[in-house]
Amino acid sequence: MQVKLADSYGFCFGVKRAIKIAEENPSSHTIGPLIHNPKEIDRLWNNYKVDVVEDIDRLQPSERAIVRTHGIEKEKLQSLKDKNLDVIDATCPYVTKPQEIVASMSAEGYDIVIFGDIQHPEVKGVMSYATTMVHVVMTCEELESVRLREKIAIVSQTTKREEDFLKIVDYLVGRYKEVRVFNTICNATFDNQSAAKKLAGEVDVMLIIGGKNSSNTKQLYEICRQNCPDSYLIEGAEDIKSEWFSGKKLCGITAGASTPDWIVQDVISSVSRI
Ligand code: F3S
Repeated sequence: MQVKLADSYGFCFGVKRAIKIAEENPSSHTIGPLIHNPKEIDRLWNNYKVDVVEDIDRLQPSERAIVRTHGIEKEKLQSLKDKNLDVIDATCPYVTKPQEIVASMSAEGYDIVIFGDIQHPEVKGVMSYATTMVHVVMTCEELESVRLREKIAIVSQTTKREEDFLKIVDYLVGRYKEVRVFNTICNATFDNQSAAKKLAGEVDVMLIIGGKNSSNTKQLYEICRQNCPDSYLIEGAEDIKSEWFSGKKLCGITAGASTPDWIVQDVISSVSRI
């Protein structure tokens, strides 16, 4: 099987930065998974004894706690500091940005709309910075039942699609007098998405590598599926099924922003052998 890699794929700046921080601080604890990739989390444990802690009450004063790439709730960050832990913030600067915007717009009396998934840790963190009303929505329909005041500020989860964000913005601008729009979608996501879209249109079968709980990997998968019906989301080479390739010549490969290159290389070798 011939293989073609997307022009832009895999680890983004924020993930590279967080992993470097973890590698430089062995035997520390990350508050929730550092990134959304179980294999990389295992590697950090095996090679650096960096573990994942969900319950911060388990940590003892002066232990080292690393705040995950997606950020955490403001109150949780405060509790880490109150417990006298050695806190290292690995929140991606592109995630810190919407947190800051929400805090300052709230302070100016704006109601907050966040375009994103309310279950996602990044969104939970960003929400926690609001002191006025905050609504998290994925669609315009969800806004129909929401009562907002006249001053609204909107931000997006960093990994969302711009065209979907603009639909929500359009809806709000058409109905409210003052809407402050902050496009907080991250460029790394754009680059990986447009390269994946282009490649999916050229190949017979497309593999998207990433954690199944990773939002940006799921987005990549959706984009690829629209352009190549034979698209498959995998976490690693062990998920590959040879029947996907029967009668196919060219396989495109892309990877989510939390997928390390060693997994990508592993998948390339496996597919090349088919
Ligand atoms: Fe940050 Fe963008 Fe990556 S928000 S974690 S650089 S996908």
